[in-house]
Amino acid sequence: MNMSSTTGPIVLAEDVQKSFGANRILKGVDLTVAAGEVVVLMGPSGSGKSTFLRCLNRLTDPDGGRIVVAGSVMTDPATNLPKARRRIGFVSQHFHLYPHMTVLANVMEGPRTVLRVPRQVARERGRDLLARVGLSDKEAAMPWQLSGGQQQRVAIARALAMEPTVMLFDEPTSALDPELTGEVLDTMQQLALDGLTMLIVSHEIHFASRVADRLAMFDAGCVIEEGPPERLLRSASQERTGRFLARLMSWESDLAATSR
Ligand SMILES: Nc1ncnc2c1ncn2[C@@H]1O[C@H](COP(=O)(O)OP(=O)(O)OP(=O)(O)O)[C@@H](O)[C@H]1O
Ligand SMILES: [Mg+2]
Repeated sequence: MNMSSTTGPIVLAEDVQKSFGANRILKGVDLTVAAGEVVVLMGPSGSGKSTFLRCLNRLTDPDGGRIVVAGSVMTDPATNLPKARRRIGFVSQHFHLYPHMTVLANVMEGPRTVLRVPRQVARERGRDLLARVGLSDKEAAMPWQLSGGQQQRVAIARALAMEPTVMLFDEPTSALDPELTGEVLDTMQQLALDGLTMLIVSHEIHFASRVADRLAMFDAGCVIEEGPPERLLRSASQERTGRFLARLMSWESDLAATSR
């Protein structure tokens, strides 16, 4: 069953718990993402954002709670995880492109080997996706010939090639030089405009305020506050949220001032 055709949430997380040894990292996280919605997760380093994203696709096993993504109950031991994960695109700060393959071959690989899509079809779709991320002229290039921002856009195209119901992004621009983050964020903004459902961990506050339908603030293993970015930026109800966002705003204006 694929829930993308129904009206239920695409991501449903209820009371998700995770400890590493004696450290309680996730202390009951609740979050939903509806079809077509873009939710940006923010919060201090070590608050559990990456751990939470990894629980959603079960790269990490939660200790408790319930997770449903794209119609699959990820916390049900009977769920076929490899199959369920095909509907969940994942892009992190480290782009693991296949170094010995061209850009186009990288994008075709998943559909070819996992979905058994005929080569010609995979190639056509791959070219469409490279156009979508603005890299039509790079299809024959090798990954090492690309900038970090271009490589990250190939990684996004490669994830999209599996036709995921939802995309998870974990700080997709944090490993990039500042002048390369814009092109990746612009690509993501375009995907949002196209209606893709996305859950994004990012500290790019201006991007988030443009693109997010909702911001969710993580602190010490919980979502402490969520809402439309304009409301959280104007008047966060939690003091910790207000302080955190104010600091991000001042960092970004410092950065803009130094690069001018
Ligand atoms: N595999 C692991 N084993 C033990 N501890 C872990 C593991 N993964 C994460 N942790 C711990 O869990 C806590 C939360 O880590 P996590 O990476 O989820 O935070 P984060 O919010 O993504 O932080 P950042 O903003 O720095 O990326 C950290 O204290 C981290 O050391
Ligand atoms: Mg992280």
